[in-house]
Amino acid sequence: MRKPIIAGNWKMNKTAAECRALLTELAPKVKNATCDVVVCVPFTDIALAAELCKGTGIAVGAQNIAWAESGAFTGEISAAMLKEAGAQYVIIGHSERRQYFGETDATVNSRLVRALEHGFTPIVCVGETLDEREGGKTENVCKTQVEGAFKGVSADDAAKTVIAYEPVWAIGTGKTATDDQADETIGYIRSVVRSLYGDAVADGMRIQYGGSMNAKNVEGLMAKPQIDGGLIGGASLKAEDFAYIVNSASK
Ligand code: 13P
Repeated sequence: MRKPIIAGNWKMNKTAAECRALLTELAPKVKNATCDVVVCVPFTDIALAAELCKGTGIAVGAQNIAWAESGAFTGEISAAMLKEAGAQYVIIGHSERRQYFGETDATVNSRLVRALEHGFTPIVCVGETLDEREGGKTENVCKTQVEGAFKGVSADDAAKTVIAYEPVWAIGTGKTATDDQADETIGYIRSVVRSLYGDAVADGMRIQYGGSMNAKNVEGLMAKPQIDGGLIGGASLKAEDFAYIVNSASK
């Protein structure tokens, strides 16, 4: 049995004051959660979030990590910085990073290697665009992204990683993949992991769905055998909605 994992991706939302308000409201609402609960907050909120989440069972994550250890990389944040601030998880290769900030399978791979070296739990995002889905390329795109991300990563390290399947056309659009579409593609992604690393890693790896997941569709998605949780954008910005999702995944 894989333990479900619900992670909020706040994206570029919530000042420190807003972070405090949201987490203060959220913590008591998810105190009985039996799934893993993570909030991936902006860099400037990490230290505060880690402080506020102490003893609550909520873990804190970042939304990116530098591939270099330190040095002349203006605008980047290193593993050591994230660790000291209190992050345990890190999202890598989100489609918004790929789309707007030039992230490629190669940079995703370098960031993943660095994150694993420093003991983070990485959440590696993959997923196709609408054109790719309509062109019948969903499986190929996901395969290329998974193989690219995990290049040179050992089976032991792969086993510590979470994958988030996020179809780009479902992100922030209100269009969710159907339960069956999500289950089918996640099953396919698991088969790619199986061909890379064998049964134990594939059967143990948690693969989330992401893309307009909310309080209304969480039950249907979580009932599917391949779906091990969610990476939640918009609905993670309201304590009540996110708590509902966490508590549904805890059933
Ligand atoms: P939405 O839930 O807002 O569609 O965002 C999904 C996402 O991109 C999470 O990483």
